[in-house]
Amino acid sequence: MDHFLYRDGALFAEDVAISEIAAAVGTPFYVYSTATLLRHFKAFDDALDGMDHLVCYAMKANSNQAVLKTLAQAGAGMDVVSAGEYLRAKAAGVPGDKIVFSGVGKTVSEIRLALEGGIRQFNVESEPEMEVLDAVARSMDKVAPITIRVNPDVDAKTHAKIATGKSENKFGIPIARAREVYRMAAAMPGLEVVGIDVHIGSQLTDLTPFELAYQKVAELTEQLRADGHTIRRLDLGGGLGIPYERSNAAPPLPTDYGAMVQKTLGHLGCEIEIEPGRLIAGNAGLMVSEVIYVKSGEGRDFLIIDGAMNDLIRPAMYDAYHDIVPVVEAEAGAEQQPYDIVGPVCESGDTFAKQRMMPKLVAGDLVAFRSAGAYGAVMASEYNSRALIPEVLVHGDQFAVIRRRPTFDEMINRDTIPEWL
Ligand code: LLP
Repeated sequence: MDHFLYRDGALFAEDVAISEIAAAVGTPFYVYSTATLLRHFKAFDDALDGMDHLVCYAMKANSNQAVLKTLAQAGAGMDVVSAGEYLRAKAAGVPGDKIVFSGVGKTVSEIRLALEGGIRQFNVESEPEMEVLDAVARSMDKVAPITIRVNPDVDAKTHAKIATGKSENKFGIPIARAREVYRMAAAMPGLEVVGIDVHIGSQLTDLTPFELAYQKVAELTEQLRADGHTIRRLDLGGGLGIPYERSNAAPPLPTDYGAMVQKTLGHLGCEIEIEPGRLIAGNAGLMVSEVIYVKSGEGRDFLIIDGAMNDLIRPAMYDAYHDIVPVVEAEAGAEQQPYDIVGPVCESGDTFAKQRMMPKLVAGDLVAFRSAGAYGAVMASEYNSRALIPEVLVHGDQFAVIRRRPTFDEMINRDTIPEWL
């Protein structure tokens, strides 16, 4: 459920008309709903009620400072994967002891930054990383709290580019080798083992792969405890999917997920950590764009809009489906027609949808891409020298620009000319 609904035929974000925001900031733009962000965070938080837990928002999904602050004030921790994300989390007021550091390639300077600023734990992904972490921590007279990310070799049944839990993926340590690697970790004085980490992929629409992975984690917890390790925390990653296509069966809800976690892991008495990104931010955002031209091609009509693949890359990159709706609702029973909805970028990959049924649209009409709050703005680029598009946050009847559109001068002046030119 989100807070983007039609009122008297006009699309609103909470109590603000999308057309009003468009008039104020120009198109294209992203708009996020505070109420939806908080609702989704709370859905997870409530789903894990009864277990000691922390929801660490995977901020790679949407790391705007205002989004982070909204969630941090509600009590969220953060899952970060780079120095930049760590500093963004800190800047949004998240204390170090609520920040988890994930990622396969943490550098020495990133490790140092987090040890200096405070960290809940590092999720270690390889033996070489573990050795570096131990050395850096010792050189700073610190002890780094760690989990080791295990790769459970489970098929997440999602898009190949976002599946991470199979043995051929670059992530984690094969679960079969986990006991040996934990033994090595326990012998390193710069490290304190606190638990186990697992993350098998993103946009999962079925609980079965999660359950298979978590059963393996439960078994491993018992083995490691028997080996003498303290396993008091289980980081279960993110990955629960969202309904991109409203006509499809909805993925399981956080409550279903929470019940499954309780069933598979509850008896272990561990603190549970989860790292949802998409489910918190995805349906809390729209990308709004204007129709520039309607062009009739051979046997098809193209809706050429001012948003492009550089603004929202998911369709080009993952063949992702996004619902696209008119900002002025079509009258009931109005005729629909198929359109290819495309951006202005010079490649055929700049196609958002093919033969999508839409009400008849004309130049100047606004359309909204649903489910664009996660992996939208954060993956945008300036390809074709198109400036990054602004982000807007709505809160009840208020809205604020939370990242403005840069001027073309700002964009151009980031480049510098060598002296010989
Ligand atoms: N934890 C770890 C270690 C992750 O790698 C990820 C996502 C998450 C948590 C959050 O997963 P979520 O709850 O958002 O599914 N750009 C792609 C998605 C990439 C996901 C990468 N890792 C997309 O647009 O679909």
